[in-house]
Formats: sequence, C-alpha cells, structure tokens
Amino acid sequence: MNMAPQELEKSASKYASDAIKQDSQGARGMAITNYQKATESLLKLQRLYPDSKLNKIYAERMRSYQNRIKALQSTSLSDVEPAVDPSASPEEQRAGLANNTKNSFDEMVMKEKPDVRWQDVVGVDDAKNALRESIVYPSKRPDLFPLGWPRGILLYGPPGCGKTILAAATANELDGYFINVDGSSMMSKWLGEAEKNVSKLFKMARSYAEREGKPVILFIDELDSLLGERTNEIGGEVRSRNQFLTEIDGINGKGKDMQLYVIGATNKPWSLDHPFLRRFQKRIYVSLPTVEAREKLFQLYTNKLNLDSRVRSHTLASIFEGYSASDIKDICQAVQLKVVNEMFSTPAYKEPVEGENQSAPRGITMKDFRETMARRKPSVSMDMIRAYYKWSEQFKAL
Ligand SMILES: Nc1ncnc2c1ncn2[C@@H]1O[C@H](COP(=O)(O)OP(=O)(O)OP(=O)(O)O)[C@@H](O)[C@H]1O
Ligand SMILES: [Mg+2]
Repeated sequence: MNMAPQELEKSASKYASDAIKQDSQGARGMAITNYQKATESLLKLQRLYPDSKLNKIYAERMRSYQNRIKALQSTSLSDVEPAVDPSASPEEQRAGLANNTKNSFDEMVMKEKPDVRWQDVVGVDDAKNALRESIVYPSKRPDLFPLGWPRGILLYGPPGCGKTILAAATANELDGYFINVDGSSMMSKWLGEAEKNVSKLFKMARSYAEREGKPVILFIDELDSLLGERTNEIGGEVRSRNQFLTEIDGINGKGKDMQLYVIGATNKPWSLDHPFLRRFQKRIYVSLPTVEAREKLFQLYTNKLNLDSRVRSHTLASIFEGYSASDIKDICQAVQLKVVNEMFSTPAYKEPVEGENQSAPRGITMKDFRETMARRKPSVSMDMIRAYYKWSEQFKAL
C-alpha cells in the first residue's frame, strides 16, 4: 500500500533531521545514508504526486542533500587520500584542505562595508531615527545609557525599500564593522553545519568587538529563513534557530558592555514567532516611499540622465504611486535604455569617429516614463501593504 503524502513527507523530514544531527556530530557514514533516504522519500513523493505545488521545494531539498553527500564523500576520502595536488608538500596539502573548509564559512560572510551613507537612503525617516537612537547614540556615549540599550533590531517591510542599505549606512555612520550574512543561504549552503556556523558567526562578531573596541553590526538578511516548522526541517533549522536565540541572549547578558548589534531583516515578519520577536526589542517598519520620498528618488536616479526640460520630478512622484524605491531605480534605468536603444537603431546613427561629435540619445520625456510605467507594475501589492499594517499594529516597537 502507498503511504499518504503526509507520511512520506514526515519520514523524509525524520531522515533529514537525523542526517543533520549525525552530520554535525561528525558521523559522516550515517549522515550520508540518511541524506540518501531522505532524498528517496522525496523522490517517491514527487512521482506519486507529480502535480503537487510542493515539488519545487522538494527538488531544492534533494539538491541540497545531494550536494551535502558529495561534500561529505569528498572529505571522507580526503582523510585517506587528500583531494589536493599530490605533488604539493604535506604542509601545502594540509593548508589546501584547511582552506577548503574555511571557505564555506567565509564565502557566506561578507565583511567589507558597502559604500552607502545616511544621505543616500531616501525617506524612511522613522527607521533612520530609530537606528540613530538605538545604535548611533549608545555607541558614541555609552555612559549615558546606564540601563543598557537594545541590541536586537528588526527591520521589516516590502522588498526594495532600503532595509539592506539602511543597515549598511548605519555601519558606515559608526565607523564600525559590518558583517553580513543571508539567512536563506545559511540554511541551504551550511546544511548540516548551520548550527555550528551560527555559533562561529557570533564568535567572530564578539572577537571583533572585543579586540578592536569598535562597534560591530551583524546583519542577517532574510531572517525568517532561519525558522521553519519542525516537520519541514530541511537543513537543521530547529537547532540553528535555538543556537541563534542562545547567542542573542549572550549579548544581552554578559556581553552587555560590548558594542555588538544584531540587525535582522525580513519581508515576512509574521513568520517570526514570540521567542524571536522578544529578542528584537526594536521592530521597525521600512515602508514604501511617500510622495515626497518618491520625488527625491526620481531626482537622485535621474540626476545623471538627460531629461527633456518638461519632465517634472514632482509629477513623476505623483503618478508612480505604490512603486518601491528599487522599482523607481529600475524605471529610471529602463527609460534610459529606451532612448539609447532608439539612438542605436536609427538609420542616421554613425559609429563614433575620432575628433567628431558622438551621437547622443534624445532627451527623456514624460511619455517615455508613462510608456515604461504601463509595462512595469509595482512589485508590491496592496494586499501585502495591508498585511504589513496589520502586523505593525500588533507588533511594532519603535
Ligand atoms: N530608501 C532608499 N533610498 C534610495 N535607494 C533605495 C532605497 N531603498 C532601496 N533603494 C535602492 O534599491 C536597491 C535595493 O534596496 P535594498 O536592498 O536596501 O532593499 P530591501 O528593503 O533590503 O529589499 P529586500 O527585502 O528585497 O531585501 C538599493 O540598492 C538601492 O539602490
Ligand atoms: Mg535586502
């Protein structure tokens, strides 16, 4: 008799969570067997229910299990026969292997600061003020905050409105370190090692804060991916998540004097549960740009473009209601592409000749903006905005 889909999925999850546990304890052989069994259960599911909406997710999971099996097989082989240049000296071979394991962590963690400043982030004043109050001031004058200050800040809101650049601008404002990781790649690329790597991540952040005495911002994008229902465990979510909560408690407890901040960002705040929310004492909504902000965004992103003299940023701002900051950037890029394409495809176009004036595209008109708008809808729906408002009413904490 065939198993019901729920049963199959449950057994896949069970195999996967065993595999992950064994993997993190170094029991490679057993881990490989269980990753394999998890894959087989998912394959069966796919075959039995070829039209299921979940098949894309299953395919992704199978891919990550298979990749992990490959990685485990190559490292277990390397115990006997290092998979490195055999002509290298033993020292070089060891160094090569050590580098390989280090890379999977380093690859995921970005330490260089993106070059953005407060003034490059348009609008979102509530968010800017909250970050100033809870990070910038305490880090400049810790003596004025005898009762401590919040260490965990959650930025939530629709895509493309500046969560990521706000976090980066805060780090620049402070002359501090910026460590950036992505929750979803953490779970997929660190399969079996996510729990260990979460603790490595915090250790690294603490060591920067202690050694250099400078503020450190640990930015975790797509924070919601660290979660996951127990039955949907694909990469050790439950263990990594608990590790994460423990680490944050460490900062709030004995790490109180350290300048370490955790900023999390998410598009799906409703998927975070209470234990998570409690640790992010500030929860800040990064909203779609207001009409004033849209006007500034158009000024910012058209300032290097050749506009027809009749184009008014004020008018653009009012017709592009509902568009996000990153939509506006894309629109400006698209209108520029439009006039450049036109220039290249006119019969009168001449290849550049040295010493002669080069052809130039015509000025961008309001009509170009309107045509582009007709072809490109806002990336955020009204339903989504309503959902953010509803969640904010209950959970916002400024
Ligand atoms: N407030 C803003 N001011 C100026 N530019 C912005 C703003 N918000 C977004 N942008 C532009 O859009 C790009 C994407 O923004 P960002 O990555 O910060 O969005 P996000 O809110 O983190 O989105 P996601 O939820 O998809 O991660 C930025 O690199 C920037 O060019
Ligand atoms: Mg982002």
